[in-house]
Amino acid sequence: MSALEERVKGVLVSEEEAKEIVERLGKQISKDYEGKNLVLVSVLKGAVVFMADLMRAIDIPLSIDFMVVSSYNKTESTGTVKIIKDLDTDLTGKDILIVEDILDTGRTLASLMEILRMRNPASLKICTFLDKPDRRVSTIEADYTGKVIPDEFVVGYGLDYDEAYRNLPYVGIYDPED
Ligand code: IMP
Ligand code: MG
Repeated sequence: MSALEERVKGVLVSEEEAKEIVERLGKQISKDYEGKNLVLVSVLKGAVVFMADLMRAIDIPLSIDFMVVSSYNKTESTGTVKIIKDLDTDLTGKDILIVEDILDTGRTLASLMEILRMRNPASLKICTFLDKPDRRVSTIEADYTGKVIPDEFVVGYGLDYDEAYRNLPYVGIYDPED
């Protein structure tokens, strides 16, 4: 076990499963967005690994853009969403697919959807790698979901605990206990 894995108790999504998930979603999105004006909008930093994999699993023309939103402290979501870095892309008439690492309470995506909808895209949908429906407080649902997971705090595949573990190649359960 590497030093990185010391507090990781159990694998929730293995590297192999992550690949399968990405393949499946990539195929579906390629089909659904054929002939459209697809823009993948990723929310930094957690979604960066998923974004990099997903865009290569999509075989139709697309563009990408990034946003920095929200504040998420350690294991508790604050519910406050602010734009720290906005998109460069004019969304008017474009088919926007938000690429997220995890849909938890849904607060982040609910307010992000509201902001982006005002910019008049042709369509606005959500693709999330992980979904934790047990903790939802907003009515928001993803249009594309990689995997539904139980209410555990997870790290890896882009997801962090206090900025660490993003480089873990699989999704594991973080255990703060010794
Ligand atoms: P929400 O607004 O509660 O849905 O939180 C969304 C954001 O919180 C995600 O994009 C993640 O950055 C972060 N988050 C939620 N659950 C976890 C987790 O289990 N591990 C790491 N980050 C998480
Ligand atoms: Mg995130």
